[in-house]
Amino acid sequence: MAEGGKQPVETLRWKGGRVEMVDQRVLPARFDYLAFSSAVEIAEGIRSMVVRGAPAIGCAAAYGVALEAQNLRNAAPGDFATAMDVAFEVLAASRPTAVNLFWALKRMRVMLDSATGRAPAEIADVLLAEAHEVLAEDIRINRAMGAFGATLLSDGARVLTHCNAGALATAGHGTALGVIRSAVEDGKRISVIADETRPFLQGARLTAWEMVQEKIPVTLITDNMAGHFMSQGEIDAVIVGTDRVAANGDVANKIGTYMVAVLAKRHGIPFYVACPLSTIDLDIPDGAAIPIEERSSDEVTGFREYKWAAEGVKIRNPAFDVTPADLVTALITEKGIVKQPNKQRITKLFTS
Ligand code: MRU
Repeated sequence: MAEGGKQPVETLRWKGGRVEMVDQRVLPARFDYLAFSSAVEIAEGIRSMVVRGAPAIGCAAAYGVALEAQNLRNAAPGDFATAMDVAFEVLAASRPTAVNLFWALKRMRVMLDSATGRAPAEIADVLLAEAHEVLAEDIRINRAMGAFGATLLSDGARVLTHCNAGALATAGHGTALGVIRSAVEDGKRISVIADETRPFLQGARLTAWEMVQEKIPVTLITDNMAGHFMSQGEIDAVIVGTDRVAANGDVANKIGTYMVAVLAKRHGIPFYVACPLSTIDLDIPDGAAIPIEERSSDEVTGFREYKWAAEGVKIRNPAFDVTPADLVTALITEKGIVKQPNKQRITKLFTS
């Protein structure tokens, strides 16, 4: 059970000296844990999307570092340092957009450096304790965001979400779905409209699954239906998560988010982004500088074994897009709600 409330699903956990992660590629048909024994295996789990969602990727990377250090407990100090550098590099190369990956690696690097001079086994213990703390802290942060965000939703609100920013995308509770969960815990009758989220179907497979598990009313739509339901007055608010927010408030999130934000603006519907501070990248001035991952064409030409696209057609598959800050009604953070985010308001989050 997580700190501060009911934990819907344990997305990743430390068990028997290994990391176990729910295989999100096969949900909802199967609910399986896969075990990981090295940083290389964790990096491959991130790349292949066994684990996905920015905060969950950060937690997995922290455990990747901790796992590698455990494997090297008995190594000579020089060998330990060299192998740890390789582990950091491999993990950093797994996926480019979610800044939580780099945030977590930086945090683990600071711990590693602060333990310089101690025996590898001792450093390994320090790193494992830090990975556990990254995970526990993520749940606390999601609960804090949930409490702030819930105040934005009125009883009976119909909330559209895109992709999966739920328990599966974090250590627990979720960011966007965490706000919905918290509002439901407060006694509000919230219903969710889940975009299916082509091409990887995080909405249809993961968000819908999470909501059905908890009996929170959910309706699945295809991505191209969002504008229709907005025009019919059937959506009261949009809440999404994010993979990286630039210093000026531009928001990178799952491909299709920008389209939803434009539609929300057109229909006067508030567009909220649930965003832990670990997802804000002050080193990136605006959205144009956010690296956008381009994934395999197989995700667009079909699903798993089934292929429907014409053989030989050219494919593009950017996994994320950028929503300009002026389309964002508010960021929901663990430090509070930032209305009409801009550079000054975002900087203040880190100084106050
Ligand atoms: O490609 P994914 O599934 O890792 O993309 C996930 C998203 O875009 C989420 O909306 C984002 O990471 C926020 S998760 C709390």
